[in-house]
Amino acid sequence: MTINWFPGHMNKARREIAQAMAQTDVVIEVRDARLPSASANPMLEELRGERPCVRVLNKADLADPAVTEAWMAVLAGDRSVRCIALTATHASEVRRIPKVCRALAPSRGGPGKPVRALVVGIPNVGKSTVINSLKGRRVAEVADRPAVTRRRQRVDLDIGFSLSDTPGVLWPKLEDQAAAYRLAATGGIGAAAFDTFDVAHFTLAFLAQRYPEALRSRYKLTSLDREPTELLEDVARARGLLIRRGELDLERAADVLLREVRSGKLGRISFERPEDVAPETEPSTERKDAEPGGA
Ligand code: G4P
Repeated sequence: MTINWFPGHMNKARREIAQAMAQTDVVIEVRDARLPSASANPMLEELRGERPCVRVLNKADLADPAVTEAWMAVLAGDRSVRCIALTATHASEVRRIPKVCRALAPSRGGPGKPVRALVVGIPNVGKSTVINSLKGRRVAEVADRPAVTRRRQRVDLDIGFSLSDTPGVLWPKLEDQAAAYRLAATGGIGAAAFDTFDVAHFTLAFLAQRYPEALRSRYKLTSLDREPTELLEDVARARGLLIRRGELDLERAADVLLREVRSGKLGRISFERPEDVAPETEPSTERKDAEPGGA
């Protein structure tokens, strides 16, 4: 017996995106540069079919530049795929996107034949910010929480280029627990979906291993050779976070830690390197020539 594990909204989003693909020349797939694998939608490759694709590693300002470079080489697939890294809140960087799209759809772009691009990606990767930056004013809602459903909209730019945003919410790799923790650490899945302590503990263990100096210097920690629960107590102590005298406010410590990691206060941090992710979960690596980075 086949178990259909898709909730209704996933099937609906899938249908809507399949329809939108029929009027699409180039797919602009936005991912989070800090976790380019976990922030990918597992079904997009199938939905995209043979259409060319620009993979945008967004929030490059928050990601480790060396790791982003490594990802760009891996994610530039065959001839129909380009990968660029950028910071969508900087309009000048986003303006690289139409040029790359045009190169991928040379038969379009003439009078009455704009390059039709579809912006896709899981919630909170920066799709609205990309669209707003391209348009030069706020046309798409920029949400402060993931998974805000919007109506589909098409934006005609006056440069022979039209953009549509994702019709429906695409989901991340929900079945992969490690990926879910990485998403939660970066704020890519809503706070209601996870336990803040679990995510804070995961984040502390990760930082102690990968970015020990960042953790040490931000919270003036003397030893990282401790359990994550003890590290969280150290963070609370360092910040003087107390419920009452002698009792640490660990809830606030977890909030502070996650907020500061997400906003780049600990420096530029990548939560995934290409070698952390099983190759079969990533698309083809045939072509290695990525666009020069904007990270
Ligand atoms: P979405 O449409 O894919 O759901 O994402 P959206 O554009 O709403 O962006 C989600 C959050 O990520 C927003 O922050 C946005 O400002 C931020 N963001 C987008 N691109 C970048 C980037 O390149 N670098 C950084 N550092 N942040 C980026 P917010 O605080 O949730 O909203 P707001 O305060 O900006 O309105």
